[in-house]
Amino acid sequence: MTNASELAPMDTCDEAIEPSIQDLLERMTLEEKVGQMQQVDATGDTVSADLRQLVVSGAIGSVINHSNVHIANELQRLAVEESRLGIPLLAGRDVIHGYKTVLPIPLGLAASWDPDLVQAGAALAARESSQNGVNWTFAPMIDVSRDARWGRIAESFGEDPYLSGVMGAAMTRGFQGDDLSHPNSIAACAKHFAGYGASESGRDYNTTNIPENELRNVYLPPFKAVLDAGVATFMASFGDLDGIPATANEFLMKQILRTEWGFDGMVVSDWDSVRQISVHGLTENDREATVQAVTAGIDMEMAGGAYTDHLASLVREGRFAVEDIDRMVSNILRTKFRLGLFDAPYTESARPRQFGTPQALSLAKDSAMKSIVLLKNANSVLPLDPGQLSSIALVGPMADVPSEQIGTWVFDGDEELSVTPLQAIESELGDDVTVHYAPALKSSLDRETDGFEEALNAASGSEYVIVCVGEDAILSGEAHCRADINLPGAQVELVRKLKQTGKSLIAVVMAGRPLTLENILEHCDAVLYAWHPGSMAGPAISDLLFGKASPSGRLPVSFPKMVGQIPIYYNQKNTGRPPTPDTVSHIDDIKPGAKQTSLGMTAFHFDAGYKPRFPFGFGLGYTTFEYGDLGLSANSIGFGETLRVSATITNTGDVTATETVQLYVRDLVGSVTRPVRELKGFQKHTLAPGQSVIAMFELTDSDLAFSRRDKTFGAEPGQFDVWVGENSEEGLQGRFELVQR
Ligand code: GLC
Repeated sequence: MTNASELAPMDTCDEAIEPSIQDLLERMTLEEKVGQMQQVDATGDTVSADLRQLVVSGAIGSVINHSNVHIANELQRLAVEESRLGIPLLAGRDVIHGYKTVLPIPLGLAASWDPDLVQAGAALAARESSQNGVNWTFAPMIDVSRDARWGRIAESFGEDPYLSGVMGAAMTRGFQGDDLSHPNSIAACAKHFAGYGASESGRDYNTTNIPENELRNVYLPPFKAVLDAGVATFMASFGDLDGIPATANEFLMKQILRTEWGFDGMVVSDWDSVRQISVHGLTENDREATVQAVTAGIDMEMAGGAYTDHLASLVREGRFAVEDIDRMVSNILRTKFRLGLFDAPYTESARPRQFGTPQALSLAKDSAMKSIVLLKNANSVLPLDPGQLSSIALVGPMADVPSEQIGTWVFDGDEELSVTPLQAIESELGDDVTVHYAPALKSSLDRETDGFEEALNAASGSEYVIVCVGEDAILSGEAHCRADINLPGAQVELVRKLKQTGKSLIAVVMAGRPLTLENILEHCDAVLYAWHPGSMAGPAISDLLFGKASPSGRLPVSFPKMVGQIPIYYNQKNTGRPPTPDTVSHIDDIKPGAKQTSLGMTAFHFDAGYKPRFPFGFGLGYTTFEYGDLGLSANSIGFGETLRVSATITNTGDVTATETVQLYVRDLVGSVTRPVRELKGFQKHTLAPGQSVIAMFELTDSDLAFSRRDKTFGAEPGQFDVWVGENSEEGLQGRFELVQR
């Protein structure tokens, strides 16, 4: 039996709340305590008799997926006014990248490198969803994702721990506001704790094997950043982590989360992941799965019902002490008190019901604009000048589909709010320019080419061709993984045929992941990568195409040349045989009779080399920036001292544009091997033509800290390289030393 003394010490909490929690616990029956630990699905247009009974009897503490404010308020009324103790409900809903107004998918939001924008977007989502009685959302998803085959990379902030943490913290602040009890605030949830992004082969729910040092240095840092931002809840991952499913993993849920990090909020399982502990094969049945989950410290079970079925009898059998349950129920009640639910459980019907306001749509457009990444712009074909145009062709299956542009995880997204590229471009060009539109394909999945003729005729009769391709929203998100990450359907063939018309070809790609683009890049003069940009995809894309703004997005994830390179990411280790251009051979260059060791003995692929097609941090714009005058305030710093790193960035082009200045370091020698680069800071600067700015960064030993060989956390003395640059492969390089004075 796990007794209370073995559980992590409760850190200090809000003084005013604790007595109230204790008072409630003293009055609660064991069944009511177990009830608080159960969340049930409230999907449906009415409150069923069964659900009504569960609430009134105190058998549940939370619902998920209610559909409107009336149901939300009715469920709260039953809990507050008809149950014995009147404990209000947590009402959860996946509000992942917007509610009615849909923002870019989180991978796109990450490409904005704009935490203030992400925070504003989450605040908008909280304002909209709380109007419908949502008081808890299951975001930010901060699983470091290095595998584009994995459908949930769409929901992540990409491959970098630092950027994921910055964006996750911003989203948390947006959802929770300065006051979690404010009507416009909702509780955020750090998910999926932990290591979900390492699912083998990019298949969802698959095994994850992550050495502790990798877990601590790559997958955990974003969760710590979000915890430091005050996130109210955590969610366990579905994954089997090194043989112990996260939902049963005491190392994660107690050692890391409670003992090392001092988290005093609540932990929820993922959907039915308690019973899945048996499916994984860790236990024989749901009862033992319940023992594992409670022992690990999963305060609340999402769906499933194992806690309801088994927990009270397990306590009566002596498998758990009541104190153990009290500690877990306290975490739940604390969250409800912090949300202010005991004082104000209802969603005021008098609240102005505002969804998709002009301000909301403006923010959605700004978010989309800043998330789109210009990957190619041969001969500066973009921007197009409407004043010089008489006709353009707009073709492709993603040009006019309100539901597809908003992407995955949009249960409440309002397609009526969507403005598509076709609508926006026609509106922008008006009657002065003829827009020849042809979808060419019924969807991104369509393999039939009978629509090509119309598209090719449209192209032939136009000066420029804009082709909107990509992935339908269903091709990414949970359980939606792909082993081939080329454009699906007959889209590649469409691009090839369009290029044969001899027209300038501009591709706009909407997708939920990095795609392998080799088979269209050579045919396209320009490529705008738009992710799934949300409600205002059209106006954002149109403004960038016609030069109303310069693209400023930067990649939060590496783009492989081919799927066989995966996993490929910038912050990799050096290996003992690092590849260099002169130590690799291409398969097409191998001569007959080549000797075993003649082709380079370093870490590369014959058919892909060792670099991605586009690196982390990459993105073009309509101007050029020059970096110069790298400055370090010292050649060495001691622990506790600050190194100032600066560089001058100049807009050397002829349009105003925004540059994301990136700061990277490399710890050359460590007690464990260290990445060849690590992002440690970034700044966005908007510069007019000819304008310069000095970007100034500060580094201290805490920025250089990592989980060391002895599992302690901190920096180590030694030499460091530092870069200030435009992406993870370029930049001005310097060196400094961290010394033990
Ligand atoms: C899903 C997801 C999780 C989501 C939850 C509720 O299976 O894994 O991210 O928040 O269930 O929908």
